[in-house]
Amino acid sequence: MWNIARVMRVLSGKSILLIVAGGIAAYKSLELVRRLKDRGALVRCVLTEAGARFVTPLSLAALSGEKVHQDLFSLTDEVEMGHIRLAREADLVVVAPATADLMARMQAGMANDLASAILLATRAPILLAPSMNTAMWEHAATQANLKSLRQRGCKTVGPQDGDLACGEVGAGRLAELSDILAAIDDGFSAGPLKGLRALVTSGPTHEPIDPVRFIANRSSGKQGHAIAAALAGAGAKVTLVSGPVSIPDPAGMCVVHVETAEQMLAACQKSLPADIAVCAAAVADWKVKTPAGQKLKKAKGAAVPSLELATNPDILATLSGLKKERPRLVVGFAAETQNISAHAKAKLEAKGADWILANDVSEGSGTFGGDSNQVHLITRSGIETWPRMSKSHVAQELAERVARAFKKGKKA
Ligand code: C5P
Repeated sequence: MWNIARVMRVLSGKSILLIVAGGIAAYKSLELVRRLKDRGALVRCVLTEAGARFVTPLSLAALSGEKVHQDLFSLTDEVEMGHIRLAREADLVVVAPATADLMARMQAGMANDLASAILLATRAPILLAPSMNTAMWEHAATQANLKSLRQRGCKTVGPQDGDLACGEVGAGRLAELSDILAAIDDGFSAGPLKGLRALVTSGPTHEPIDPVRFIANRSSGKQGHAIAAALAGAGAKVTLVSGPVSIPDPAGMCVVHVETAEQMLAACQKSLPADIAVCAAAVADWKVKTPAGQKLKKAKGAAVPSLELATNPDILATLSGLKKERPRLVVGFAAETQNISAHAKAKLEAKGADWILANDVSEGSGTFGGDSNQVHLITRSGIETWPRMSKSHVAQELAERVARAFKKGKKA
């Protein structure tokens, strides 16, 4: 069983050498160091001369808890931890941000500063997270350098499109930290679900009544988010499609934020193909047929407005019923207040899912918004009742069951 420590500290025992080059996105490297440390990695930082114009060695040292290396010709550094040792002891070298200049020097095999010397000397895998002005990114020289670095085995993440610090809009923004972390995890992950893609829905949906009001429910997203984290911790490449929740995005996966059921379905369809789909979201069954374009007014003496509802798409049933690209394992939830297992069994058939996790959400059960859950796992071969446990423990149990099912090549 993977315990929560394993899920969260997936980089435990790994040594990551982070090279911070000189770009405006260098400030994001500080948060990257913190997130890598949270995940259990030993992080050593190398700061280029230009990088030091954007972030201070003191910040990187404070966050990493390690000396920051800057000088190829430092006498003390070469005695204590020379550039060859830095290069050799890394399990992975991450360059974030990777500037056009540093990539050009890498491509040419130059070793005229500590960062380029390490990049030339290391045998560890290298992950580049480029970030620069759009014109520099699109320049033929940069693209040719990148192509050649990729051919030599360097992995890249990003850049993404967006507003750039130089005022332009286009490609060149440093990839989201969650994407950089996912790329790092990808490199290390050897969990039982490695190579499999998982799609998880989580949280409630908000169905607008007018621009300020909506129909919602009490789902916190805790169970769905924990499942996404457990599947990622077991090595799956996860896309989490989340309704509006107040809990943070789990690291190491792609998180798509949506509001309505229709947006959730569209995001799920966009993330296919997937091997595993877990629909944990509490999707609103109904939406307001025609949401008002302006805020509904409470005029004195005016009639109380009545809402005409329309049926929302059923995401679980849609994914289960796909002819092309149906995930090999589709798991749904059944939030019931009575006759839990009988209703869940009927739901398994009605929705065409492979497994249903049924839980008691009756008053006093503490499931909605709480930290624990008591579930029954309904498969085509029967019903299992799991003891009450924390939502992260339920998630880990489920991830283990999924791994066992895929190992056997069966669904239950
Ligand atoms: O029909 P009911 O809401 O009880 O079914 C619960 C299961 O169906 C959950 O897995 C939920 O995520 C999924 N569901 C869905 N789309 C809907 C309604 C429910 O995916 N519109």
